[in-house]
Amino acid sequence: MSQRLRKVVFPVAGLGTRFLPATKVVAKEMLPVLDRPLIQYAVDEAVDAGADTLVFVTNRYKHAIADYFDKAYELESKLAQSGKNDLLAIVQGTLPKHVRCVFVTQPEALGLGHAVLCARPVVGDEPFGVVLADDLIWNGKQPGALRQMTALLDGDVAGAVAVEEVPRDQTNKYGIVDTGGDASRAARMRHVVEKPKPEVAPSNLAIVGRYVLPGRIFELLEQTKPGAGGEIQLTDAIEALLGKNKVLAYRFEGTRFDCGNKLGLVKATLAMALEDPALAEATREFMASLR
Ligand code: G1P
Repeated sequence: MSQRLRKVVFPVAGLGTRFLPATKVVAKEMLPVLDRPLIQYAVDEAVDAGADTLVFVTNRYKHAIADYFDKAYELESKLAQSGKNDLLAIVQGTLPKHVRCVFVTQPEALGLGHAVLCARPVVGDEPFGVVLADDLIWNGKQPGALRQMTALLDGDVAGAVAVEEVPRDQTNKYGIVDTGGDASRAARMRHVVEKPKPEVAPSNLAIVGRYVLPGRIFELLEQTKPGAGGEIQLTDAIEALLGKNKVLAYRFEGTRFDCGNKLGLVKATLAMALEDPALAEATREFMASLR
């Protein structure tokens, strides 16, 4: 029986150094793809998967994300007074009414695993999602990647990670999965290793930023020692989980844009412009005019 995913964790404490100087003042999750910030795409995907509690693991410098999902009293009353109801709906539409946000601080940047562990008091002992907002996964009007993954959970399957194949020379940027050669859409993970060099990587199947995990992962994270890059890695806790639990590597339906780097953000912006009837033709013409 498939479950609903009530809680989703968004680790958003990173510094976003690839986008300096903009990220001196703008959180990287607030960078826009057209008119919506990356975090909005991530939150929409979580809500699509059934989430009603969004847990943002943040640092003390990042107020923008809380502000963005908060009520904007002054702006909303101005728009209401001037009868700009379409704009009012956009401003009020960042979060459905039944969804609440919880903010947890990560006091020190000790790694993704540590960031997820900071969410433990809010998540407790139930299955939950993790979404890395700089991996934008777009599946149009079809179910988002996280909803697809949630549907895989049952008494037998304890968790799932989203994967896609990457060029061999890039395995050192990702968690890399070993499925024992099983190439099916949802393959049982045998092992996973964080950022292996190409020559020792078990495959070129990389984790992209979506996870569905059981509450038990927190106990394992507590015991996880610093790994790749001296950081407490979520990947290492998942490897420990595989000893007793069935976790699937899932080749999601949709397109992933790595918006943690400039080219990915450009590609996402162009792809979204081509999906927007008001922009598609002019964007196509502009692209054709480039050499
Ligand atoms: C993190 C994870 C890595 C995963 C990647 C996906 O790495 O540690 O396993 O493949 O996200 O984007 P980071 O990009 O934070 O270095």
